[in-house]
Amino acid sequence: MKTELVNKYRPYPPVGLINRTWPDNTIEKAPAWCSVDLRDGNQALIQPMSLAKKLEMWQLLLEIGFKEIEVGFPSASQVEFEFTRLLIEDGLIPSDVSIQVLTQARDHLIKKTFESITGANQVVVHLYNSTSTLQRDVVFEMSRKEIIDLAVHGAQLVLEEAQNYPEILFRYQYSPESFTGTELDFALEICEAVMDVWQPEPENPVIINLPATVELTTPNIFADQIEWFCTHMKNRQSAIISVHTHNDRGCAVAATELALMAGADRVEGTLFGNGERTGNVDLVTLALNMFTQGVDPKLDIHDINHLIDVYERVNRIPVHIRHPYAGELVYTAFSGSHQDAINKGMSYYEGADSREWAVPYLPIDPNDVGRTYESIIRINSQSGKGGVAYIMDHEFGIKMPKEMHPEFGAAIQRVTDREGRELKPEEIYKEFEHSYIDVHTPFDLHSFHVSKRHSDKQERRSFAEVDAIVEVEGEERQIGSSGNGPLDAFSNALKEQITGNWTLCSYHEHAINTGSHAKAIAYIEIKRTDGKRYWGAGIDTDIIIASVKALLSSLNRAS
Ligand code: KIV
Ligand code: ZN
Repeated sequence: MKTELVNKYRPYPPVGLINRTWPDNTIEKAPAWCSVDLRDGNQALIQPMSLAKKLEMWQLLLEIGFKEIEVGFPSASQVEFEFTRLLIEDGLIPSDVSIQVLTQARDHLIKKTFESITGANQVVVHLYNSTSTLQRDVVFEMSRKEIIDLAVHGAQLVLEEAQNYPEILFRYQYSPESFTGTELDFALEICEAVMDVWQPEPENPVIINLPATVELTTPNIFADQIEWFCTHMKNRQSAIISVHTHNDRGCAVAATELALMAGADRVEGTLFGNGERTGNVDLVTLALNMFTQGVDPKLDIHDINHLIDVYERVNRIPVHIRHPYAGELVYTAFSGSHQDAINKGMSYYEGADSREWAVPYLPIDPNDVGRTYESIIRINSQSGKGGVAYIMDHEFGIKMPKEMHPEFGAAIQRVTDREGRELKPEEIYKEFEHSYIDVHTPFDLHSFHVSKRHSDKQERRSFAEVDAIVEVEGEERQIGSSGNGPLDAFSNALKEQITGNWTLCSYHEHAINTGSHAKAIAYIEIKRTDGKRYWGAGIDTDIIIASVKALLSSLNRAS
């Protein structure tokens, strides 16, 4: 863009708060949460939710544990009116849940809003009017006093209307809409004028909701505004200070967190940050940010995939693959060094006595939100041996010896370079089979028999005699020898009668699954006379046969 265009914009003025306290505060408890998915979220959809979709979202919000849910703007839309009626008439509102209904401070809208809630138990009536300098001057052409009169009149009508519904337990909420574009002293003045009408008390507080209708500045300035507001208001103990942030600068989560540090008690927002323009603050991220600091968010997000599933279906908006805590790739590492560190961190965590989570690159245990470890490490051309070893272990129970990782890692790297894409775990396993298990030439085992076996504990000596039929380049050869165990005897037979000399350098084995179909895998590394080393692997229900197969695998790979 052209440099001179920057002159079109002005910096947002700081609050000038002296001795601010919020930077030293921490978030130690969950705020009161209010979901506005069914209102602000729905209002911003290309295709607003049908009644059925709203019901699905409502159900999800209850499952998550919201106790305050803004169900709509019943005076502005027939579907929202009908939805509010449906919830009430079909008894779908649990006794500990309050519905919230939004209305502008205009007589006919307030009246229609009250009609929509007939028969409800607990309702938050949410009154708003726009207070920003810009809207006062450009949209409404009204003075400060006229804007206050509008709000006060609306607040009075709300009280009058409420008297017609004695069966409902009311709470009142006022939002100076476009708070972030409003002079602070004026925002306070109008909120106090509304409070003077509603006469709240500490046991019956009002909700003063301060919206960043448009996010216009850095989160620290928003926090200053909240602290200023909380410390300058007359009757602070009779108000619940609520924040409602939008994400125009991409800082809604940060702004909300700092606002909580600055004294806010309540947060309005949506799942995964749906909402006007860049969206409302994302309540899932906020809640999980708290959770990962050891603070119970009092929202249940143990199955984040279920949340995503409902969210995507009803809103017809995909959750981004990099979305905090929720995205498809956020528990995945492609980079080799990250994979290696995660692999080591996971093994350490699984073996440690303490259950305190500390795994490199993973701020949360994926399991806590219903994600599996399976997706943590994925393999593409950026990946390293650690990631490949992790997949083999976690997906297939194959715990390759550490010294074997570079060789198999390089084999996988060749495939990813060739294919130019991510490999699925099954493809990695196939490559393992192809490289180590299905190698039958030039040597293929046809039969193997241990004819004698003796172990003398006192003399600490073992002895075995074996005979075997090995196919060598299409021709069957009968071989046999003795040694200090079956594998040693077979090695001797091979060296003496088929292959000539080589050295067995390492041997590892382990079971690969439990139960009656348990199998074992053996890994063998040999060194040829020219110094070159080769790994082999063999799988069988019998560990001796697995080791014999592993030896032939390494010899075949060395040939
Ligand atoms: O963003 C906003 O200001 C709103 C108000 C109606 C609270 O959604
Ligand atoms: Zn909003």
